[in-house]
Amino acid sequence: MRRPAALVLAFTVVAVACTSGGLDDSADTTATTAATTTEAPTTTAPSTTSEAEPTTTEAAAPEVSAELSGVGDELFPLLGNSGYDVAAYEIDLDLTGDELMATTVVSLTATQDLDRFHLDLVGMTVDGVAIDGEAVTFDRDERELIITPNAPLTEGDAVAVTVSYRGTPEPVADDAGPFALGWQTREWGTFVASEPSGAASWFPGNDHPTDKATFRISVTVPEGVAAVAPGLLEGIEERGDGAVTYRWVSDRQMATYLASVATGPFTITDDAGPDGVVIRHAVVTARADDLLADLDSTVPILEWMVDRFGAYPFESYGVVTVPDDLAFALENQTLSLFGADFIDFGDDFADQIEAHELAHHWFGNLVSPARWQDIWLNEGWATWAEYAWAADQGFADWDELAAEAPFFGDMGPLLEVTPTTLFDAKVYIRGGLGIEALRRTVGDEAFDAVIDTWLTRFADSAATTDDFLAVVDEITGDEGGSVMRAWIFDDEMPAFPAEG
Ligand code: TRP
Ligand code: ZN
Repeated sequence: MRRPAALVLAFTVVAVACTSGGLDDSADTTATTAATTTEAPTTTAPSTTSEAEPTTTEAAAPEVSAELSGVGDELFPLLGNSGYDVAAYEIDLDLTGDELMATTVVSLTATQDLDRFHLDLVGMTVDGVAIDGEAVTFDRDERELIITPNAPLTEGDAVAVTVSYRGTPEPVADDAGPFALGWQTREWGTFVASEPSGAASWFPGNDHPTDKATFRISVTVPEGVAAVAPGLLEGIEERGDGAVTYRWVSDRQMATYLASVATGPFTITDDAGPDGVVIRHAVVTARADDLLADLDSTVPILEWMVDRFGAYPFESYGVVTVPDDLAFALENQTLSLFGADFIDFGDDFADQIEAHELAHHWFGNLVSPARWQDIWLNEGWATWAEYAWAADQGFADWDELAAEAPFFGDMGPLLEVTPTTLFDAKVYIRGGLGIEALRRTVGDEAFDAVIDTWLTRFADSAATTDDFLAVVDEITGDEGGSVMRAWIFDDEMPAFPAEG
């Protein structure tokens, strides 16, 4: 029996547990410093920055504040932070030494008066924090980097927060699935797989999709290694000792969980795609011809999606194929991550997964979930797009998927998810079938208007299931609204309507 690709995606992420364990975490940077001890920045400033020495502060040590840590995500109370809004991240990574040397500049605006604020950062050793160039005191507590400005910020203040840090990034092992998320180190190089909670393993930030920002990511790698990151390649500079700095820039809004870097034995392509989109793949050089032949489908799939969803929302698109079997693919923004196994699935399946990850660029990346509980909006829509595309090509069938659905486990209500069941099969399959049920009920014209309104209204932002239902109600009235509600909320998965 042919297994629907959505199931492959949903189920095999679990297999990652077996392959991502052996990471080198020799640099013990456990962020367990008690909240009451103020960790003074060390005096050895990293070579890349020339910051002022920290001023000695006698101020009472900051405590973890319940109001400042977290944005109120019920499933992930510690993700993100309150009190400010990030406009831009500038991340500089140097991978030429034994450990990662990094500087991240977070440009943020206070949305309230702040005598301190938090960034999310897991592991790593923080060497110093500066606000607008002036060293400040900071503290660590689990995933919170607690920063105390020398003078409180006033609502509306825009500042640049520079964090200098180093170490061996440790993937985040929290409740979000049985495997570690975030920065991953392999013999051949590195990659990032963060969704939902791994971004803090490699840069300090406001790690929640409700606070998107632009990203400039520079990566310095030894001779012979390539580095890719989201957006466009601004330049490549040689450092003199053979090391090379790749500067990548994305001026479009991006959620932290979608930011990524991959370094390794890659060939990076650069082609003009439709409507000025740069098609940029990073493929394992030893297999470049085969892989690029497999990726011939990118542009036709992109054209199909532009036709259905509207203009592609970002500057570039491509796939990074890593040498290992990962048993997953992931929609990192402008740079979907594919394990070798997911490219070698055979043409139809590999293309179907490609369609899935590309579809996420509208559903998930352009419009993101405002709470992780709303993850079905990502996976349901990507599954819908993947099947609609594959059905158009003649190798997938909705009614077959509906008939098979119960064999893939719990198909219960879509908002009943926990951190460990966030990517369970129902989120994909019941989600995708529910959206197709909406289309079959209201017809293509109203359905396309729902897509258009959803993507226009919430572009570069994040939205909830209620926001989606409001769009469905507005455009299709009770006809679509009641069908969609049944597919989201009913205890039993509803009967799949016939085409008509
Ligand atoms: N969003 C991925 C998909 O397209 C699944 C996924 C979620 C994932 N979190 C992940 C894959 C972390 C790898 C690592 O189906
Ligand atoms: Zn997906």
